[in-house]
Parts: sequence; structure tokens; C-alpha cells
Amino acid sequence: MAGETLTVAVLGAGNIGGTLGKKWSTAGHQVRFGVNDPSGKNAQSIRAELGNRAVIGTTRDALQDNPDVVLVSLPGGAIEQTAQEYAAQLNGRIIIDAANRMGEDSMHNLAHFQQHAPQAQLYRAFNSLGWENYAEPDFDGIRADLFYCGPDGEARTKVEQLISDVGLRPVYLGGNEQMGLLDSIASLWFTLAIGQKKGRHLAFKVLGL
Ligand SMILES: NC(=O)c1ccc[n+]([C@@H]2O[C@H](COP(=O)([O-])OP(=O)(O)OC[C@H]3O[C@@H](n4cnc5c(N)ncnc54)[C@H](OP(=O)(O)O)[C@@H]3O)[C@@H](O)[C@H]2O)c1
Repeated sequence: MAGETLTVAVLGAGNIGGTLGKKWSTAGHQVRFGVNDPSGKNAQSIRAELGNRAVIGTTRDALQDNPDVVLVSLPGGAIEQTAQEYAAQLNGRIIIDAANRMGEDSMHNLAHFQQHAPQAQLYRAFNSLGWENYAEPDFDGIRADLFYCGPDGEARTKVEQLISDVGLRPVYLGGNEQMGLLDSIASLWFTLAIGQKKGRHLAFKVLGL
């Protein structure tokens, strides 16, 4: 880990939250996972891997003490209620939204966070590739790129650090007016990986950066 040690609340510890949270914990960050069932199978598998570094509880537990960054890796259908119920804890935080509202007009959750946590600094990242690429971001020595968007302030450094600590190269697309573009990149990934049956270990690289 090149930068500072961050406290990270990871909401949802399945494919996405489990993969990213374990990487961040291994990189030295203080990660607290929040799940539906803290004694369920996702929690057990993280405990088995991280041992006493695993801190796993409810959403409320994970959000206590104002974490530096909150990763939202919950099912798309759980976002609205979570944003409403934990509005006070989420407001003012740096939030990375990785959740996709599959089958809806927009996959991102900007409207819900703007409504319930208007002071949060909201980023969109980790939504556009299958989780296998976060587990294995290296393609024969080439580091996959990860597109992201959000406010161009100091918080960006923390978001970029977390992307880099997973092993990906961050590629900034601009402010939250680019959320639709991040949805389109997720659609491109689905088209190739699933529609064209190219397989889920598939990512993107921008040349010339
Ligand atoms: N899978 C991918 O490759 C991928 C890629 C990009 C983006 N995404 C998006 O990332 C999000 C997570 O996907 P996933 O595949 O990681 O899902 P998943 O494996 O089903 O994990 C979901 C996690 O959320 C927790 N959870 C569900 N409802 C909750 C609630 N109401 N309150 C608190 N915790 C709750 C579950 O808790 P328990 O552990 O107790 O069950 C579990 O830990 C989705 O929005 C998905 O669209 C997924």
C-alpha cells in the first residue's frame, strides 16, 4: 500500500464486497464489513480467510465511527432502503457505489444518495467489471483499467488509492454527470463476457494514457 491507511465500511460481503474488502484488508486498511447475516456463509468465508483481521457485523456496525470511505456492494434492490435508513451515517461520507440496479432504466443509484445523503461525496466505481477481475486484475503482466467517476476533489485520492490497492489502474471519467457512461461500460462488459460468451475474466485497457 503506497498511501495512507483508511478505515473502510464495506456494505455487502458477497462477490464484490468480499473480494474488494479482503484485498483492502490485506493491503493494510481497516475494513469493517456489514452484512444481512453476520453468521452467514459470506461472513464465515471472510472470517476463515482473514482470521482476527475480519470485523463483520450489521450495516449499522460497519458504519459506526465515521469511516473514511463506504463501499456500497449490496443488491440493487436494497439500496433505496439502506440509503434512507442510514442517511445520517452516510451523509458526509465518501461513498463508492458499486451496486447495479439490473433491468432498470439506470443501473446507478445517484438519485437515492442525493436524496438521503446530499452531503456525501459519491463515486461510481467497481460497477463495470465482473468480480473475477477484481480478484485477478493482472492479465499476463498487464494491469486492467478501472473506469470511475465522482467529484474532482481531495476525496478522489482516496478512491484512486483503493482502486490501485486492488491491483487495477484507475481511469477518471469526470464528475457524476458521467454515471450513465459507467452504466454503459457495464453494459459493454455484459455484452462481451456474457452475450458474446467471451468469459467473465475480461476487462478493459485504454492505450495512450
Ligand atoms: N457480481 C459481480 O460480478 C458484480 C460486478 C459489478 C457490480 N456488482 C453489483 O454489486 C452488488 C453486489 O453484488 P454481489 O454479486 O457481490 O452480490 P452477493 O454476492 O449476493 O452479495 C450481496 C451481499 O449483500 C448483503 N446484503 C443483501 N441485502 C442486504 C441488506 N438489506 N442489508 C445488508 N446487507 C445486505 C448480503 O448479506 P449476507 O452475506 O448476509 O447474505 C451479501 O453479503 C450488486 O448490486 C451487483 O449488481 C456485481
